[in-house]
Parts: sequence; C-alpha cells; structure tokens
Amino acid sequence: MMRHLVVPNREVEAVLGHVRARGWGSVSHRVFSSKDGLSRLIPLDVGAPLELPKALEYPIVMHEGVPDEKIETDWLALLASEVDETTIEQMGDAWPSNHEFVGDMMIVRIDDQVAQFTDSIARAKLGAHPHIRLLLADDGVEGEFRIRQLKPIGARLADRILAGPSLEFAPPELLTTEVAVKESGRVIRCDPTKAYFSTKLQTERLETLALAKELREELGRPLRIADPFCGVGPALATLLAEPNLVSDLLATDLNPDAVKLLMTNLSKWDRRPYPEGAIELQQVHENRLVGLADALTLSKKQEITGKWDLALVNLPHRTIEFLPEIIPLLDRTSPSMIRGRAIVEESEIEQANELILSSLPKLMPDKPSPSLKIKRDYSSTLRLCSFQAWLSPLEETN
Ligand SMILES: C[S@@+](CC[C@H](N)C(=O)[O-])C[C@H]1O[C@@H](n2cnc3c(N)ncnc32)[C@H](O)[C@@H]1O
Repeated sequence: MMRHLVVPNREVEAVLGHVRARGWGSVSHRVFSSKDGLSRLIPLDVGAPLELPKALEYPIVMHEGVPDEKIETDWLALLASEVDETTIEQMGDAWPSNHEFVGDMMIVRIDDQVAQFTDSIARAKLGAHPHIRLLLADDGVEGEFRIRQLKPIGARLADRILAGPSLEFAPPELLTTEVAVKESGRVIRCDPTKAYFSTKLQTERLETLALAKELREELGRPLRIADPFCGVGPALATLLAEPNLVSDLLATDLNPDAVKLLMTNLSKWDRRPYPEGAIELQQVHENRLVGLADALTLSKKQEITGKWDLALVNLPHRTIEFLPEIIPLLDRTSPSMIRGRAIVEESEIEQANELILSSLPKLMPDKPSPSLKIKRDYSSTLRLCSFQAWLSPLEETN
C-alpha cells in the first residue's frame, strides 16, 4: 500500500509537474485512473512529507502501487541480451519482479531456480534502475535481532556495472550498506545488514500516527510513548514529526548496532544532542529514556513501569507471548493503548485474537476490540497482522 494523490483529470499535468520537480513521485509506480474515471491517482514516494504544500492539497488514499511496466519490460529486455528467450519464458515467475529500495540500494530475492543467473540479473536490474548504486540479494530475516541476510550481487562504479567476479574490485565505499532513507519527509539512517529496517512498514507507521493522534484527543495532552523494540527508530520518526504529539519517550533495543543508529537518528529528529554509540539505557534528556535494554526486563524497573500512554510492540514472532511483560509499562490511571504486529497462521487468527484478549486487562468499552488485521502474506500459510488495543483505566478501589 502506498499514498496516492487523487487529482481531477484536468489538473493532473500541473500537479505531476509539482510532484516531480520536488522528487515526491514514486519512480517505480505509475499514475492510473480512479474507478469513476474522473480523477487520476498519483503514487507518492515514501520520502514525500506528510504535510503537503497548498498546491498539492488533494485527497490522499492508500492503494496498492501499480508497477511501472516500462521499468519491468526494460529489465527483462536487458536480461534477454544475456539469457536466451526460451529460458526466460521457462523460468516465468521465478525471475525477481519485486524489489525494495532502501536509499540508493535495491534488495531482491533470488529464487533458487534462477540462482545460476544471478550475475545477469544484477546487470539487468542495475541497467534498468540507473539511480541504484548497490544491488543486494535477500536471504530472509534471522536471529533475535531480526537482521536480514543480505549479500551484494551487483554495484555501479561510474558508468560500469560490476557483478560476479568483477565485484571483488569494487572499492569498499561502493559496497557500504549504511544509508539515509527519506520517509514522510524525515531522514532515517539505517543499515539493513546490521539492524532491522523495512521501508514496507510506512503504511503501518502512518496508521500508528493516526491512532496516536486519536489517543492524544482522548487524553487531551501529548503522549508518553514507549517503543521497547524500536530498532533504528522508524516508528518514532513519524511520531516525533507531529507537533505536540510526544511528550516523553522510552526507546530501547537489544541490538547495539540498532541503538547506535538510533542515537544518530534521534539527534536529528529531536534537534538536540544524543550520546554517540550503543549506550546503556539512560535518561539522556529529562523526557527521553533511551538505549540498550532487554524489553522484557523493563517491567521489573519500578521507575519505568506505569508511566506510558502508548506502547509499540513490533517483534511479530513473539508479540503475543511478550504482551504480559509490556502491559505493566502502561499508565493505567488513564486510557492507554498497545499497538502490535504479529505473525499468525491464517487458520489460527481467531485463536490468536482470543489469546490477545485474554492477556489484556479491561478494554475501553467505546473503542473497537483488538482484532488482528492481515497486512500481508509472510509465507504460504503465515500472515503478518497488526492490532491495537485500547485499555481502560483501572477503577479505583476504596
Ligand atoms: C522486527 S524488528 C522492529 C524494529 C523497529 N521497531 C522497526 O519497526 O523497524 C524487532 C526489533 O526488536 C529487537 N529485539 C528483539 N528482542 C528484543 C528484546 N528482548 N528487547 C529489546 N529489543 C529486542 C531487535 O533487535 C529488532 O531491532
């Protein structure tokens, strides 16, 4: 899903001019017509700011991006100069049609069936995407830190494309994987080979922002937000960008590389100094408690528990299991919220909903009950879902 501007047909050319001049249009998706044929949907790049200028004040809808077929046919045409047409047809869907851009890097999954053509794929993909410096093959997410196993398979050195054995001659700076990604007008420093980061979660982060604003409305004041599995902090980038939304922040992760990047990011987003490196959890500013910590130990620290209005739980394999350790962080004297992501078997979603409900204290009666919403497939049977739970304040007992 990505943001699209809905623009009346007559105004499309002018709006496209504005969008392109600012680099806010998605380069790999195309404009398409609305269902009623009266408007066009212009795909916005993830880097485009949330608040658009007056000239671009049109309705925004979330819609699946429509890939620009020209780029798709370009890369296959380039592949055809190295691999014979019959093989290209035979392998069909095994060729990598999907990809993810992270800064000036592109990440693709190489199916075993076409692994022998990796060098040709690298040359064709880099040929079709001239703004890409480095192409990486994705072998999936691993371990406690949820880090992607990424291997460089192609790079651009001036006007040459390096792939296969020639990659050995690439200068180290060409192979660097620490990059700056623009999202919703904010710059996020990340290194997907060292700490978890996914550009695909922008929609999720925008939904979290909308929910946080609703909670602020409910409480009538800025929020104290806890992100105990924060990684390099992308969810916080969006929340901190909203004026008067965040009063206090607890941001922790177990991965020292993630915390190091988090410090760099927070110092920019928060416009004040943060220590460098992977610091232990500490009060960096009066309202900023950040650093290395095991989220499961936080509820044992009295000075941290019962202090937060919104807790984010983004550790999808273990979110439901960890809920009892996260709930004590919330301030139960007023309404609060848990927002989580979970990976669940599609056939077991109802059971998982029940499990979530049984782990939670009393819910707010006038808000929807937590219910897992499928966001995308994780495997043939597993689904990546998200949910939010509105918790009622504890009733005072006399
Ligand atoms: C799926 S990633 C999400 C990161 C970040 N919230 C984001 O949206 O990009 C989960 C993160 O939890 C961290 N993690 C895993 N176990 C943890 C624990 N017990 N305490 C704190 N962080 C943990 C990992 O290092 C990883 O950065």
